Amino acid sequence: MQNRDATQDAVKTKGGRIYYLSVLYSHILISMVKHTVFKNDHIQAPTPQALAQAADFIQRGKLVAFPTETVYGLGADATNDQAVAMIYAAKGRPQFNPLIIHVAEPTDLDDIVIRNDTAELLTSIFWPGPLTLVLPRASNSTISLLASAGLETLAVRCPNHPVAQKLIQLSGRPIAAPSANASGGLSPTEASHVADSLGDKVDLVLDGGHTRIGVESTVLDLTGRIPTILRHGGVTLEDLTALLGEVHCSLVEDESPKSPGMITSHYAPRLPVRLDAMTASPNEAFLTFGEDRLASGGATRMNLSATSDLIEAAANLFSMLRALDQSQFSGIAVMPIPEKGLGAAINDRLHRAAAPRIPA
Ligand code: TXA
Ligand code: MG
Repeated sequence: MQNRDATQDAVKTKGGRIYYLSVLYSHILISMVKHTVFKNDHIQAPTPQALAQAADFIQRGKLVAFPTETVYGLGADATNDQAVAMIYAAKGRPQFNPLIIHVAEPTDLDDIVIRNDTAELLTSIFWPGPLTLVLPRASNSTISLLASAGLETLAVRCPNHPVAQKLIQLSGRPIAAPSANASGGLSPTEASHVADSLGDKVDLVLDGGHTRIGVESTVLDLTGRIPTILRHGGVTLEDLTALLGEVHCSLVEDESPKSPGMITSHYAPRLPVRLDAMTASPNEAFLTFGEDRLASGGATRMNLSATSDLIEAAANLFSMLRALDQSQFSGIAVMPIPEKGLGAAINDRLHRAAAPRIPA
């Protein structure tokens, strides 16, 4: 207070004005320096200590950006719904696009997806490397349903980068990671790009320098009769055709892939879904949100987040929809979800679940 009075008095004179301006500018300068330091102090060289800390962060459900041979990934424990929800929140994705699950070696796939002969062949030749395979989810898969946006398939990849490899091994978890940029932005090929795009939304950035390939991995769908490229990338159509013979292409734009609602194999509840409900009939299952004392009815209830936490709600969305999708109920009524933050992605998914069904 005293300081402010003194400054105001000083401003009344010409010399005082210069003094005031210089104080102001030095404040701005200090805050700029602070900002820069703050923004970059979570970028760390991949020393053994930094890697150990990063692995510990992954195990504790935090976000770690790490280099791969293609682009930097924004990683979280793929078995932790809440951590995966934080990826979507950090990226600001308006939809839950399915994420790639990163593993250290092909044998890590055993409890995650169901492999076929083509997958065996491809992993023996191209892994570790820039080839992502879409395979059916194993029935006992521990991977978060949110990570695959509720799909019955999972995209898996084994990155060819020592830092990525070490992080997966040390954390002992499969790591879900989209490219480490805000939604709609360019994929980052340097640690500073990650910090510029995501700022302090990421807990730690492991700096592996410039990524070698610079474009994302090729995404190859192996769930149909003929292998189908969904995204071009580090492994080319020619490479794949030479090995497999016939290969189709069904390209989807990155950041807005095959809309989950359009994928026939996509999980949609069997029961009809009714949105913005404040009352449910005695036969309906009721998916509530926030304080649900004012809502009434329902044969059973599950609350996406009693504290109205949208990250928690996103984390619970797919598993609760599945849990309520039981034939003893006539439908699933869903309370309104605010259209802010992750609420937009939750509502997008709910609207798809409630839309008239396209016959498979
Ligand atoms: O090189 C890369 O692949 C990088 C690094 C970090 O590994 N990751 C990356 O992730 O580019 P992302 O989330 O930006 O792109 C993932 C792509 C999207 O096009 C998505 O639609 C597709 O993979 N994808 C993931 N799971 C899928 C699934 N189950 N079915 C079909 N497509 C899937
Ligand atoms: Mg991307």
